[in-house]
Amino acid sequence: MVTRNSHSSHDALSVLRKDHQSIDQLFRRFERSRGSAERRRIAARIVRELSVHAAIEEELFYPALRRRADGAADRVLVALEEHHLAKLELAELEGLDGSDERFAAKVGVLADNVRHHVQEEERELFALARRTLSSEELALLGDALVRARETAPTRPHPSAPDEPPGNALANVGAAAFDRGRDVLGRGLARVIDRSRGVVEQALRRGEVVAREARQRIGRGLERAGREVRPDAR
Ligand SMILES: [Fe+2]
Repeated sequence: MVTRNSHSSHDALSVLRKDHQSIDQLFRRFERSRGSAERRRIAARIVRELSVHAAIEEELFYPALRRRADGAADRVLVALEEHHLAKLELAELEGLDGSDERFAAKVGVLADNVRHHVQEEERELFALARRTLSSEELALLGDALVRARETAPTRPHPSAPDEPPGNALANVGAAAFDRGRDVLGRGLARVIDRSRGVVEQALRRGEVVAREARQRIGRGLERAGREVRPDAR
């Protein structure tokens, strides 16, 4: 029998609000911190918490709203774009040394963007959720969010799909990759990161090859068209 924890903190909106609060606390700790090692440590936690939080919202909360609430789609699409930008910033942050002169500025801009996103999300999307989902549904969704957190990716993947059905599958692979990397020593983690770069390079190369092939086919068709209709320009 499936039982659910009846504790009110598992209401979906409380779960998400708690995440928002702990992320904001991390930003505040960063703002108070001194020294590159401490800043690097706090930033690593920000990367982890935000990556997990974005993944569970995209997998469960946003799709539930789109399915149930009229007029939710536009707001959810904006939220997804804001997540996408945050992931790009997080990915850059991961590669930056704590002593880099851009480090604090990058975290500062990320904090501004995330605070703006959270404010709108709590004002608009939470209100929509309260209007369209029953308290039992919000409680079940809350339980699902808590469970999903255990297996969510812990690092940003800005080019991975962020909507169902693609993200559910992509998150499984990304989470396995991230969680494997999380437990490795620094040396091995660097090797893994290099191989991630190789994969991304291959994907980019693949894209260029595909574009060139499309252009060649286009030129071929144009030529063939001129041969069939010699008067065609
Ligand atoms: Fe969000």
